[in-house]
Amino acid sequence: MQQLKGLILSGGKGTRLRPITHTSAKQLVPVANKPVLFYGIEAMAQAGVTEIGIIIAPETGDEIRQAAGDGSAFGVRIQYIVQDEPLGLAHAVLTAEPFLGESPFVMYLGDNLLQGGIVELVQSFRSDEPDALILLTRVEDPQSYGIAELDGYRPGSAELDGASAGRVVRLVEKPPRPNSDLALVGVYMFTSQIHEAARAIEPSQRGELEITDAIQHLVDAGLRVQPHIVNGWWKDTGRLQDMLDANRLILDNLSERVEGELVDSQVEGRVRIEPGARLERATVRGPAIIGAGASLRDCYIGPYTAIGAGCTVIGAEVEHSILLEGASVCELDGRMESSLLGRGVTIRRGQRQPRAYRFMVGDNSDISIL
Ligand code: DAU
Repeated sequence: MQQLKGLILSGGKGTRLRPITHTSAKQLVPVANKPVLFYGIEAMAQAGVTEIGIIIAPETGDEIRQAAGDGSAFGVRIQYIVQDEPLGLAHAVLTAEPFLGESPFVMYLGDNLLQGGIVELVQSFRSDEPDALILLTRVEDPQSYGIAELDGYRPGSAELDGASAGRVVRLVEKPPRPNSDLALVGVYMFTSQIHEAARAIEPSQRGELEITDAIQHLVDAGLRVQPHIVNGWWKDTGRLQDMLDANRLILDNLSERVEGELVDSQVEGRVRIEPGARLERATVRGPAIIGAGASLRDCYIGPYTAIGAGCTVIGAEVEHSILLEGASVCELDGRMESSLLGRGVTIRRGQRQPRAYRFMVGDNSDISIL
């Protein structure tokens, strides 16, 4: 098989993570203090895929270029491909055709996270040489995803594993009444046959050229589309709860390392404190990560929290939350939980009784609770 290229889709609009994504690309929202996009690049590098094209939108492309650079930090070479409008995943593939040429490739949705990487998948794509390899996993809300119907499979029925999955019969994008609970995970492997398929299909009802329809075209043409059932966890980080879940899953595997300065403070469990962070009379219960240069005083940071670089938390309790770079929570007199604060957000207290708070706040907002 020819050398495998990589294609990461980081264009699109990110409407579901607004207001955070009003000002920045959803693929750069951090999970455990690292942009989601970087996990995809690292997964490719680990599988030996070193020629990577990244699809970007005109609005957020510069930010992505700046963050990922030429790829040398990851040991790969990155080319950026501007998609003028988010006209669908198959449209993104067509936009990347000059970069991809005749090469087989791995396509990774830039807002997806897949446990365990893609090394094995790349191996089975190389050795079995199907025309496409798709990843599937059981979900509870199949109407939110592209779904696959397999020969002989009924939703919720027999045990499934990668090797015994039946033939792909039908693929449907976000069906209102799904006949299967197997969702298409945002990692795909294709040969150059996909270009012709993407050219043959029509836009869907939502006005996009769907990759699901392009794969269906391969199936209808009698080409071999191999399903692979994902056993580990997978997250599409497009919504707040998914983002918080992804943060929890990554933090669960965090290794402990304390490099910042601790003054009268306690750290329990798996906690990473990056250089230049300062904790004074603070308690951090892991798994949690405190970014470089963060300042924590008279506060409690609970499990599954990622505090970004340069954040400030004073006189507050924060748990199961993500704070982006430079956000601050001051004298809250209550517990903030399951929240996502954008870059530079400030939250401060007013005169009310202590209580629990839940926020999703866009970059640079300033909130006082009266
Ligand atoms: O997450 C898995 C799901 O991803 C699959 O089950 C669906 O079959 C597939 O269509 C896709 O659905 P979404 O509606 O979640 O896709 P979304 O619009 O979020 O786009 C996924 C990524 O691709 C995201 O990083 C933005 C980028 N993108 C999207 C479009 C529509 C582009 O780069 N260009 C585009 O035109």
